[in-house]
Amino acid sequence: MNRVLITGAGGQLGKALAAITPPQIQTVSAERAVLDITNRESVMRWCEEHSPAGIVNAAAYTAVDQAESEPKLARAANTLGPQNLALAAKEHGIPLIHVSTDFVFNGKSGDHYKPTDSTDPLSVYGVTKRDGEQAVMAVEGVDAAIVRTAWVYDSEGKNFVTTMLKLMQEKDSLGVVADQIGSPTYVYGLATACWGLYEKKQTGIYHWTDSGVASWYDFAVAIQEEALELGILKSAIPIKPLTTADFPTPAVRPSNSLLDKSLIWEALGETSPHWRSNLRKALDKYKLMNRSFYSRASTSAFVS
Ligand SMILES: NC(=O)c1ccc[n+]([C@@H]2O[C@H](COP(=O)([O-])OP(=O)(O)OC[C@H]3O[C@@H](n4cnc5c(N)ncnc54)[C@H](OP(=O)(O)O)[C@@H]3O)[C@@H](O)[C@H]2O)c1
Repeated sequence: MNRVLITGAGGQLGKALAAITPPQIQTVSAERAVLDITNRESVMRWCEEHSPAGIVNAAAYTAVDQAESEPKLARAANTLGPQNLALAAKEHGIPLIHVSTDFVFNGKSGDHYKPTDSTDPLSVYGVTKRDGEQAVMAVEGVDAAIVRTAWVYDSEGKNFVTTMLKLMQEKDSLGVVADQIGSPTYVYGLATACWGLYEKKQTGIYHWTDSGVASWYDFAVAIQEEALELGILKSAIPIKPLTTADFPTPAVRPSNSLLDKSLIWEALGETSPHWRSNLRKALDKYKLMNRSFYSRASTSAFVS
């Protein structure tokens, strides 16, 4: 049986990877308390004891704004951690799927970013993720695939969708940034793409997001429309478009987060669903879960 280690198993992607593991693969989910990827000795020991057939790294320091004041913590999880996993993968001759971000780019391109485009991160988080990619690729002979993604959400946990639903119930109006564009990405599509790359033994750098383009403002408007239609929200509130300057954050974010997916679509033999149809699926699930409790959320969900 193919036992694949999922690191960061307590996060959005880690949970989705475990939930939709292909039938022929068995997973071992390791949350941070079980396996801290920043500790090389623990990573090596864990791999010796469990002999995984592969590693999917969903662990990361994802608090984008907080990273500006905690660069060492961000670097440990986003640069040293992936390096440790790549070294372990090489030593055991197993593949590594590592997940990265659109924040490796400066967002100044007028087009979708290709995997081969030059990186130029604007934030501590972006720098540590870019350095993590480079640390993985620098491990000679490792079979590693890196999947950059953006604007990831689920129907539970702390993310933009759950944050907006909470605010739309609590507030009389909302302002949302309209001059940053990207592709909202349902975590289950991303998890499927990771498993696809694993099963097809792909290596190199890939981009995966849902299809289509939106600003955070467009995304918020769509969340409200779909949630009203599904009866998740009872009434609409006005949503005002803001500029990035109106909504200052400690970390600078790319204004264009669009990623070119043609390479991964070719490798997997399928394209990404449009973000709006995936949003509907996520909200259907949200409704089914019939949550009366809303996850702790904050406006720092403008994470990438
Ligand atoms: N969310 C997005 O919008 C987005 C956008 C672009 C790229 N990405 C990338 O996608 C991947 C998955 O993100 P996500 O949304 O699933 O993030 P997430 O929900 O924040 O999950 C990250 C998980 O990693 C764990 N972790 C942190 N440091 C660790 C360590 N040293 N050892 C082991 N586990 C550790 C966290 O545990 P704790 O909860 O204990 O900290 C958390 O469970 C990451 O590589 C992220 O950079 C995400």
